[in-house]
Amino acid sequence: MSTQLDNEACQQVVDKVFQVLIDGSKQGYIGENISQLAHSLQAAAQAQEAHADNETVLAALLHDIGQFATGAEHKQMLCDAETLSNPDGSSEGGKSGQKLSVGVSGHERIGAEYLRRLGFSEKIASLVEAHVAVKRYLTGKDSKYYEGLSNASKLSLKYQGGPFNQQQIEEFEKDPLYELKIKVRRWDDNAKIVGWDVPGLEAYRPMAIDHLMGQRQRTATAL
Ligand SMILES: [Fe+2]
Repeated sequence: MSTQLDNEACQQVVDKVFQVLIDGSKQGYIGENISQLAHSLQAAAQAQEAHADNETVLAALLHDIGQFATGAEHKQMLCDAETLSNPDGSSEGGKSGQKLSVGVSGHERIGAEYLRRLGFSEKIASLVEAHVAVKRYLTGKDSKYYEGLSNASKLSLKYQGGPFNQQQIEEFEKDPLYELKIKVRRWDDNAKIVGWDVPGLEAYRPMAIDHLMGQRQRTATAL
């Protein structure tokens, strides 16, 4: 019975997340000629083609989720996530139990916190959270990478803190997930191809449900 309830709860979470992606498709992708949804699907398709593990595929799919809404909508996203993950109405507010300062967070942090609150794994949240840091890493490490960025991405880099310096580069390379974080960023960079036909959102539903169910079971076992 509880498994059935868990499954329904996971379906609800996936419905919600997919709706955010679908709503995102109504916006253009700043500086690019494809929709945000097409961009997300192309990133996920590359992760699958590379035989990445399921958490990495989901991270590629969801890497821009925090970008699909702004301001009050961000706040609402986090409230929705809290309600979905705490159906009893309690508001512990994420793993850390701390309230997130929505106003000062970049979209990658908003997205990662949103996913944590919905019950996605820390690995997925970390990969999502890293995608701006990796851009700063790669531009610090390789000037050619900067040259290859779109004008929109070059502009946003300024506001994201600019390229990493040598010390920041070395620090970043200590992260055990750093190579995976770079892969997600590469898929992100290449996911801007007009007319590239890739699997749709529903192709990822079973994977997302399995992941959330597994997370719930792990949490229940740990209690
Ligand atoms: Fe992206």
